[in-house]
Amino acid sequence: MDSISHSSLNRIAYAGLIIASIAALLAITNPRTCKPSISFPHASCQTNLRRVTTIENKNKKLWSTKEWRKRVDSFKELFHNLTANGFLSNDSKVLCVSAGAGHEVMALKEMGLKNVDGVEIVGSPPLVKRADPHDLPFSGGVFDVCYSAHLAESLFPSRFVSEIERTVRLMGFCILTVEACSDEKLARVTGFFRNSNLVFVGNVTLGEDELTQMVMRRESYS
Ligand SMILES: *[C@@H]1O[C@H](CO)[C@@H](O)[C@H](O)[C@H]1NC(C)=O
Ligand SMILES: *[C@@H]1O[C@H](CO)[C@@H](O)[C@H](O)[C@H]1NC(C)=O
Ligand SMILES: *[C@@H]1O[C@H](CO)[C@@H](O)[C@H](O)[C@H]1NC(C)=O
Repeated sequence: MDSISHSSLNRIAYAGLIIASIAALLAITNPRTCKPSISFPHASCQTNLRRVTTIENKNKKLWSTKEWRKRVDSFKELFHNLTANGFLSNDSKVLCVSAGAGHEVMALKEMGLKNVDGVEIVGSPPLVKRADPHDLPFSGGVFDVCYSAHLAESLFPSRFVSEIERTVRLMGFCILTVEACSDEKLARVTGFFRNSNLVFVGNVTLGEDELTQMVMRRESYS
């Protein structure tokens, strides 16, 4: 049986097209010298400072909306459960991949985590920096936890997974929240991991969405 339905394949294809277009645009509007690095977005990208300031003001308005607060609180509940299960703590160094406008980043920061990064193909300062999830600008093994709720939007899920797996330390966790899924689809996702084993799976509700959450622990290098 084909474990991914046609509609989700279509969605993945459309999302991929959008991401590819944005990536192409970014490549055109930003010279090569503006390469993302861990200290991003300083130094080489200062030319966009004014634009960034405007986005930050816009984001401050966004954060005062009820919808924003509700979603951040949903993420907090989800992360509290992960803390209770020992996958996450105040000391964890966490990367949120495809973090959108940064709900999950804010949730983790509000919970007391000091070391949280968020990346997305389109940055949303100050919570989310711009970086391609398929080519993360971080060295291997630098995070305790890598989290994403947006694997489904990736055009290259296998590349997406290998990147998050690479950035997580040995015995660190990759945590994915995906559309509620059967065992076959779950196996398809866990199959993208080459050095990690599934240590937890459960269905959760995030806002109105029924989701499946999986925790993979990195157990080897390849
Ligand atoms: C968190 O855990 C509680 C108790 O096990 C459960 O009722 C709730 O649905 C969970 N919520 C999320 C978002 O994981
Ligand atoms: C994490 O830090 C916050 C804020 O400093 C604190 O309120 C909370 O109790 C801490 N959680 C744990 C599990 O230590
Ligand atoms: C989660 O929900 C899906 C779809 O409703 C179901 O097929 C699956 O068995 C559930 N998984 C768990 C771990 O309960």
